[in-house]
Amino acid sequence: MRGFCSSSVFIISLLFISGSAGADEPETLWGWLIDFSRAKEVKPVSNLSYQEECGACHFAYPPGLLIEASWRQLLTEKALEDHFGENAELDSEMLNELRSYVFQRTADKSYSKRARKIAYASQGQSDLLRITDVPYIKRKHHEIPDELISGNDKVRLLSQCNTCHTKAEQGDFDDDSVWIPDYGIWNK
Ligand code: HEC
Ligand code: HEC
Repeated sequence: MRGFCSSSVFIISLLFISGSAGADEPETLWGWLIDFSRAKEVKPVSNLSYQEECGACHFAYPPGLLIEASWRQLLTEKALEDHFGENAELDSEMLNELRSYVFQRTADKSYSKRARKIAYASQGQSDLLRITDVPYIKRKHHEIPDELISGNDKVRLLSQCNTCHTKAEQGDFDDDSVWIPDYGIWNK
């Protein structure tokens, strides 16, 4: 009985410790195991330089949407000089800041449900440079007709996540919060 009591106290204290860790996604496996509500979606962008530099031409993608191998190929001086046909080069100090911000928060280092699915679907595919090429992401958008994407002036590209995902800035990609411009709610 005594043993039972002290182990309950131990578990309860752990719950408190993890509960006070803040509203972010849990950092540890233990945190993930006992976190039921916050672990679903990816962490929103929290670095101002990243938001400004990588949000200049498109939605600033949260690092949890791609695995580290992908980010390491995207975030080099050379790769950014020819970034999908655009020049997105950065000075080396800025590049280093962004690399360390991103590399610590990649899909394969994250425990959120969404990031785990992306990491799992990207396994063994070291040449993935696009979130829109991750098999899980492709599959999720497979049924949306082209006229609602490329044929829609307010969307144009699937890579413009935030034109349809109204909570993308919060890292939330749940299908409940999708609103396709000039179309509305997506009913499968
Ligand atoms: C000068 C404009 C510009 C800047 C600045 C820029 N990008 Fe891009 N980015 C593009 C274009 C254009 C595409 C391709 C869009 C398409 O064809 O879907 C793209 C695509 C991407 C994709 C792939 C999207 C997909 O299809 O899943 C990622 C990831 C990405 N950018 C990350 C970044 C990061 C990280 C930064 C900051 C270091 C950055 N971008 C800065 C123009 C830019
Ligand atoms: C044309 C509008 C549109 C764009 C642009 C778009 N999505 Fe989606 N997305 C949808 C719709 C609609 C669904 C629901 C599809 C279904 O369930 O059949 C969806 C589903 C998803 C899901 C699964 C959600 C769930 O609850 O299972 C994820 C994750 C997702 N999108 C991420 C992204 C990301 C990341 C981007 C940008 C790289 C993006 N989407 C761009 C419309 C869009």
